[in-house]
This record gives sequence, C-alpha cells and structure tokens, in this order.
Amino acid sequence: MNKIVVLGSTNVDTILSISHLPKPGETMHMQARSTAGGGKGANQALAAVRAGADTAFISKIGDDHAADFMMDTFKEDGLNLDHVTISETEGTGKAYILLQDGGQNSILVYGGANADVTPADVDAAKDTIANADCIIAQFEVPIPAIVEAFKIAKENDVLTFLNPAPAPSRRDIPDELLNLTDIIAPNETEAEIITGVHVEDDASMQKAADEMHKMGISTVLITVGSKGSFYSFKSGKTGFVNAFKVNAVDTTAAGDTFVGALMAKLDHDMTNIEEAMTYANKSSSLTVQTQGAQNSIPYAKDVK
Ligand code: RIB
Repeated sequence: MNKIVVLGSTNVDTILSISHLPKPGETMHMQARSTAGGGKGANQALAAVRAGADTAFISKIGDDHAADFMMDTFKEDGLNLDHVTISETEGTGKAYILLQDGGQNSILVYGGANADVTPADVDAAKDTIANADCIIAQFEVPIPAIVEAFKIAKENDVLTFLNPAPAPSRRDIPDELLNLTDIIAPNETEAEIITGVHVEDDASMQKAADEMHKMGISTVLITVGSKGSFYSFKSGKTGFVNAFKVNAVDTTAAGDTFVGALMAKLDHDMTNIEEAMTYANKSSSLTVQTQGAQNSIPYAKDVK
C-alpha cells in the first residue's frame, strides 16, 4: 500500500447551477444552489485514501462550522489528520463553482485559511513526509510551504508530485520548486503557462513535455480532459492513455481524482505507469457522473 502525503487546500464549495455564464451587466436566475466539500488538496487526499493508499493530509482550516463539516468527511474516510491545523485569523477556504448545463465549470476560490499555511506548518510534519512514498502539492497553498515540503521529501528519497493548479504565471513559479519536482501533472492550459507551448496535438504535447524535462523534471503527465492523458519520461519513453467515454454532469474534481488515484497505484519505479493511469482515468470517469467534488470521488470497490 502506497504511503502518501498531500499538502493542500480545504474548501467548502458552493455550486451554482446555471444554463450559461452571465455576460457582463447581465442578471440571471440560477437553476439550483448546493454545497459540497472541496479544495484541490482535500479532493486529492480523499481520492488517494479511497483508492486504498495510507494518506496523511497537511492543510489549514478555520475555527468555524465549515471546518467541522469538512473534518467529518476526512475522519469517516480515515485520513491521517495530525497536520490539519486551525488558523488563528482566517476562516475555512471557500470556492464558488459556476456549473453550466453539460457539466463544464468555472471556479472562483477564496483562500481563507489555506493562504495561512507556512513552512513551519510543513516542518511540523517532517517525520510524516520523510516516511512517505510520495508527497503531492498544488497551488492553492503558498509556494514557500510547498518548497519546504519538497526539500524534506528530496532529502528522504520521497517522490515529489506537483499538480500546478490553479496555474500562476510562469514568473511566479520559482525554478527552485521545479528543480525539486519529480513528477508534474498540468492540464493543457497549465502546460502552456509553464512552457509557453500551445498544447493542441501530439507534437506540441511532446514539445511542452521536453521543455519541462529541461527544467529538471523527470516525469511529465499532461491531462487533456475527456481525451485522456499523456506521459513522458526524461529517458525517452512516452505514451497516451485514453479516457473512458461517459456522460459528464459535473467535471469538478475530475483532475483531483486522477491525481490522488494515480499516486495511490503508481509504483516507486513507475514501471506500472499505464496501469496506474488507467485506474486513475476510470476513477475520474466516475467522478464526473455525479455532481459535487468530494461526494463524487469513488472508492476502490466502485472502480473495480
Ligand atoms: O479542483 C476542484 C476544486 O477546485 C474544487 O473542489 C474547489 O474547491 C477548487 O479548489
């Protein structure tokens, strides 16, 4: 069983179901409004633990009802919560999801307590990171905390996995962080922000991957939504694993499910990459068939 640590955000998502995005100046009715647990970090941690990994979560929440709601789910799923701490000044993070007919979404995030995660919080989890197989991080917590976590990981031969979402501009991603990253998993848009290469076909995917290899990253995965995902090892081995065709009602957390499920299944030597990607694709194909983030992330028995 893989031992995973996820460093990342906890959000409560408010889902606003609408027929189309409003134009500037337009007022329109929404069709429904609902709440679900979310946050890229929390979603990835739940995807990993539900896929069978021993998973610890490093995150920050507020001292509020939203935090109680989130912690109840985390406990039910058996996440190690020793390093989920409470901000003294900020409330639990929030996200507002504009969900259009057909399942496409646009997400606005208010960081709250997530913006309060510090390198000192990460240092407090040093032993947990050092004893893991892999640490996963995204960009909904401050970059200095991610750098600290990846430094600890590299000192202890722990794989570092960066999901660069939401993507800041390239100049805001320090070279130091990319040098500490073993595996990076952007989508097409994030790959373009990081490399400047517009990803639209096999050749441009490989070009973007090569640019990331030059930045010192040995393994690049580029996810291309409903098509599937591409992998490229610095050694030269590459491949594409197709996604499963399903009727999507809400794509929220599809990428997070892919990341958590993949790393729950990937061996340290990565020789089973295509098998692990297939499992991750199956998992996210289930996620998109139910509305909401955490309630839609499947368990291993459902994927089987
Ligand atoms: O990736 C989906 C997640 O992004 C949502 O759950 C929302 O909270 C934002 O963090």
